[in-house]
Amino acid sequence: MSDVGAILELRAVETRFPLRNAWGRHTGWLRAVAGVSLSVARGEILGVVGESGCGKTTLGKTITGIHRASAGSIRFEGNEIGSLSPAEGRALRRRLQYCYQDPGASLDPHWKIGRALEEPLVIHTNMVATERRARVREVLAAVGLPETHLELYAHEISGGQQRRVGLARILMLRPSLVILDEPTSGLDVSVQATVLRLFLDSRERFDLTYLFISHDLAVVRLISHRIAVMYLGKVVETGATEDVFAAPLHPYTQSLLAAVPVVGGARVTENFWLEGEPPSPTNLPSGCHFRTRCPRAEARCAAEEPALRALADGRMAACHFAG
Ligand SMILES: Nc1ncnc2c1ncn2[C@@H]1O[C@H](COP(=O)(O)OP(=O)(O)O)[C@@H](O)[C@H]1O
Ligand SMILES: [Mg+2]
Repeated sequence: MSDVGAILELRAVETRFPLRNAWGRHTGWLRAVAGVSLSVARGEILGVVGESGCGKTTLGKTITGIHRASAGSIRFEGNEIGSLSPAEGRALRRRLQYCYQDPGASLDPHWKIGRALEEPLVIHTNMVATERRARVREVLAAVGLPETHLELYAHEISGGQQRRVGLARILMLRPSLVILDEPTSGLDVSVQATVLRLFLDSRERFDLTYLFISHDLAVVRLISHRIAVMYLGKVVETGATEDVFAAPLHPYTQSLLAAVPVVGGARVTENFWLEGEPPSPTNLPSGCHFRTRCPRAEARCAAEEPALRALADGRMAACHFAG
């Protein structure tokens, strides 16, 4: 089944990393992304949430080709990414951009911001210098920075302004899908709000679709239309943001949401029973990978891994008891 309105369609995508012992000998594989199927509609903001280490970054980097998928299919704007020629792949990837978690660290400290913004156009386009400069000024204005910033170095501007430069750098190539990886982490709450507003305004202005990766559920709730919850490399629940927050179906999502601080109030902890660390991805339990931390687990959960099933209202969950 192919979703015609989708800008991005993932089918059973898997990304694995080699495991080596102290002598460098290959001892097995870590499946950081373990069979993810998702579809993202054009113009949508899909939030991807889950604890640290669940595979969010690896998924984002696999979609943009920074990591290679070891199995599955990734279709972007109707094209199967893996089957393109290198030239076609490069052209397509301009429209599919990954925004690093810490743009400050990904900006060259020896370059002025003007050069950092112009460089993608030098590498990827045939634009002449006057055209490039015009686009730099246009995008700089769109992210709300003054032209005087073109002459500054990344370390001379604030964290919030660095996020603006990071986004500007990506917008230079006119992408259609942008993967934002923890784009508000490390920012003060007040700065977070202005950065989120910037993402929303840029989406309108440049017709963008976002995959918004974050472990911060409060932020994801503010900005996403739909969310996908990941646990140990798999999607365990998807649905419209308000539906999922109002009544989470998977026990893992229930526990994550119970730990979200309430705006203006104290952290709600009475329903929060998620304890300890997730199991090691190199030594996973049988059946449902969440069962070792789940209060509802029964014998069936150890014997049989629950598939991600379609439930009412376009929602999906991977739990034997959901729905
Ligand atoms: N380059 C890599 N080589 C080996 N293992 C990796 C690599 N990148 C990530 N991992 C492992 O893959 C899993 C998922 O990591 P990651 O995608 O960074 O999670 P998240 O972004 O959700 O915190 C973790 O167990 C992590 O240690
Ligand atoms: Mg990450």
